[in-house]
Amino acid sequence: MKHFLLRAPALLLLAVGMGQMGIAQADELELAQKLATSHCAVCHTFDKGGPPGQGPNLFGLLGRKAASESNFTYSDGYKKAMAGKVWDEQMLDAWLTDTQAVALGSAMVYAQDDPGKRHKIITYIKSLH
Ligand code: HEC
Repeated sequence: MKHFLLRAPALLLLAVGMGQMGIAQADELELAQKLATSHCAVCHTFDKGGPPGQGPNLFGLLGRKAASESNFTYSDGYKKAMAGKVWDEQMLDAWLTDTQAVALGSAMVYAQDDPGKRHKIITYIKSLH
């Protein structure tokens, strides 16, 4: 009995700690979504099967072949530069750093030099699957 009394507070602390971690992650994702929406949603949709806008739908991007959305007409420069490439986090980070350095002549012109912001946008896109 004495043993149990000593241990209970520790278990309680652990439970509280885990609860807070869950909330922190949810907050992070919400902020990431806000940032991605404000920077990208003028041209892109993020929902599954969403229509293309000025750019292709981005649902399930990671693991997808570049320039492979069949309902979107990619620019010739982009198709040529991205032939055979598959989207992963590293490529997405390079793309968001400077699209023209990855695919010169691409119709998307964007350069985000804040690694924290790039990370947030990638976190959001990663969550879409
Ligand atoms: C002003 C419009 C515009 C904005 C804003 C924009 N994009 Fe794009 N995006 C495009 C266009 C157009 C293409 C197609 C590029 C081409 O064909 O040259 C594209 C292509 C892409 C691709 C390649 C997808 C594929 O199927 O290969 C990714 C990834 C992407 N954009 C991510 C983003 C993200 C993330 C943001 C926000 C940080 C963003 N874009 C903001 C217009 C935009």
